[in-house]
Amino acid sequence: MIVQVASRLQQVEEYYFSKKLEQIAQMRAKGIDVINLGIGSPDLSPSDAALKKASETLMLATSHGYASYRSLPELRLAMANWYQATYEVKLNPDNEVLPLLGSKEGILYLSMALLNPGDKVLVPNPGYPAYASVAKLLGAEIIYYELTEESGWMPDFKKLSTLDLSGCKLMWVNYPHMPTGKAASKTFFDELVLFAKEKKILVCNDNPYSLVLNETRPLSLIASDPKMEVTAELNSLSKSFNMAGWRVGMFLGSAELVNAVIAVKSNVDSGMFLPIQRGAIEALKVDEAWHKERNNTYRERRKHIWEIFDLLKLKYDKDQVGLFVWAKAPDSVSNVTDYVDKILFEAHVFLTPGMIFGSNGNRFIRASLCAPVETLVKAKARIQEFLK
Ligand SMILES: Cc1ncc(COP(=O)(O)O)c(C=O)c1O
Repeated sequence: MIVQVASRLQQVEEYYFSKKLEQIAQMRAKGIDVINLGIGSPDLSPSDAALKKASETLMLATSHGYASYRSLPELRLAMANWYQATYEVKLNPDNEVLPLLGSKEGILYLSMALLNPGDKVLVPNPGYPAYASVAKLLGAEIIYYELTEESGWMPDFKKLSTLDLSGCKLMWVNYPHMPTGKAASKTFFDELVLFAKEKKILVCNDNPYSLVLNETRPLSLIASDPKMEVTAELNSLSKSFNMAGWRVGMFLGSAELVNAVIAVKSNVDSGMFLPIQRGAIEALKVDEAWHKERNNTYRERRKHIWEIFDLLKLKYDKDQVGLFVWAKAPDSVSNVTDYVDKILFEAHVFLTPGMIFGSNGNRFIRASLCAPVETLVKAKARIQEFLK
C-alpha cells in the first residue's frame, strides 16, 4: 500500500471473532468439522409473523428505496410499546426511541456523539470488547472498572469514588452482564443513577440479554431515572428475538441525546431496509409463550454445556442470564487461551477464551448456547476423547 493506515489503528486490531471465524472457515475448507460454541448468534427462528411480514414487504415494488433515517414511526412505536410492556418504562416514540442497525453501531454513535479526544470513559473489565475499541478509535481515555468473581461481577462504588473521574463523560454498563451472566438489581441501578448524578456522567446500559434465561423481571436502567437525565440504554432484537443477522437494535435516551446520536448516524448509514423494519414490528409483538419456548430450548442446551464444562473441570454458577455459560478454569490449566486453542485444534470444538473480554476474564472460558442438542452431544463426545 502506498499510504499508511491512520494512527488510530495502532490502538485497535481486527475483532477477535472476525479473525477466529476466518481460522475456523479455513479449517472447515480443509474438511475439518469444527463445532462453534464461541459466538452468540442465535440459530433459532424469528417469529413466523416476522418472517411472513418481511417476505411480503420484500415483494412490494415500493420497498426498495432508502428508508427514513429515524425509521418508520410504526417501528418506533412498536419499540416504545415493547419497552413499556417489558420494562414498565414509558418513552416518547417520536423523539426518545431511535432504531439502529444492531446495537453495536449504537456503541460507536453514542461514543462519537459524546466523546472528544482525551475525554474519559468508564468501561467494565471484563466486558463486551466494542466499548473499549470504540473509545480507542476516538482517542478517548479508558478507565477500566473492575468486575471480579469476588465482587459478584458488580462494580464497587467505594472503589469507583476513589478514581480520578475528572473529564469522565460516559460509563458503559451491561446488565444482565456479558460474559459473566450476572443480572443487576433495581437497588443497584438506583445507586448507579445517584453515582452518575454526583459525578455528572452519562451511564448507558447495553441491555440485549434481559429476556434470555432471566428468571426475574427484566430491568431497564431507565426505570431508575425516568427523565433520562443521566441514563440511556441500548437494546436489540438480535438475541431476544433470534434476529442477529437482521441487524435491528435501538437507542433509548432523552430527546437531546437521540438528536446527538442521529446527527452522527445519519451521516453514516441511510436507514434500515423496509422489509426488516416491517418484520421487526411483528417480531416485537410476540407473546410471553414465545419467549418461554425459546428459553426452554436454551435451558435444555445449557445442561449439556454444563456437562461439557464438568468434564473439563470448569466451575460455573447455574443462575447466569443470557446466551452463554461463563466458567472458571481449574488451576491445573496454566494458560486458558492456549488451552482453548488446544481444544479447537485437537477436539475441533471452539470455545471463547475469557481474556478477550479483559484481564479479569483471563481464567475463564465462555460457551454459547447457540447450537442444537445433537451438536452439543457430539461436542461432549469429542471433549471426552480429548481428555483421554
Ligand atoms: C453485550 C453486547 N452488546 C451488544 C452486542 C451487539 O448486539 P447487536 O447484534 O445488537 O449489534 C452484543 C453481541 O454479542 C453483546 O454481547
